[in-house]
Amino acid sequence: MRKKNSQREKIKVINVPGYEMGGQLLSAETIHDRVAELGKQISADYAGKKITVVGILKGSFVFMSDLIREIDGDVEIDFMEVSSYGNSTTSSGNVRIVKDMDVSPADKNILIVEDIVDTGNTLKYLKDTFLRSKNPESVKIVTLLDKPARRKADIVPDYCGFTVEDLFIIGYGLDYAQQFRQLPYIAYLKEKK
Ligand code: IMP
Ligand code: MG
Repeated sequence: MRKKNSQREKIKVINVPGYEMGGQLLSAETIHDRVAELGKQISADYAGKKITVVGILKGSFVFMSDLIREIDGDVEIDFMEVSSYGNSTTSSGNVRIVKDMDVSPADKNILIVEDIVDTGNTLKYLKDTFLRSKNPESVKIVTLLDKPARRKADIVPDYCGFTVEDLFIIGYGLDYAQQFRQLPYIAYLKEKK
């Protein structure tokens, strides 16, 4: 287990032009405890069923690796990578599949793992258009974070770790320009005045 108040908890100096560290929102310990609760709830809800856990790369990989170790049951792992086209109208055509699942979703109980739901466009497309056409048994969403302030698509995660305000979040898998994913806590960036 991690030591409390270790070096790893301290916010580091960052080198992103125009931005500074806004502060820590969720400690590693707080995240760990909540992920354990989610794992328990998921284990109970899927009791006796095999779960196909599908991580959306790259942001979900840290959360997913902790979450699956809290699930007591039959678990199969897969990944998808998606990218959104620059400007976001609500059209589902804005999401491009960069990497598809390796296993077939047909007849599977799919649990999509996301780092954060923002506009909801990515998950709306994945759940209601892409996966639906492949006849899974069920599709649910677990997200570490939910940022409902910017929601455009009608997506409600089935399981959510924490609701966050409209901030730019980094750490525990979430990035700014592919940086900060390794932070064991969740923090936010703010624009320099
Ligand atoms: P959506 O389609 O707008 O819901 O996009 C969600 C995706 O945008 C997430 O999977 C993240 O990769 C990214 N994203 C949204 N908000 C943040 C944030 O605050 N920090 C880092 N990535 C974010
Ligand atoms: Mg993502």
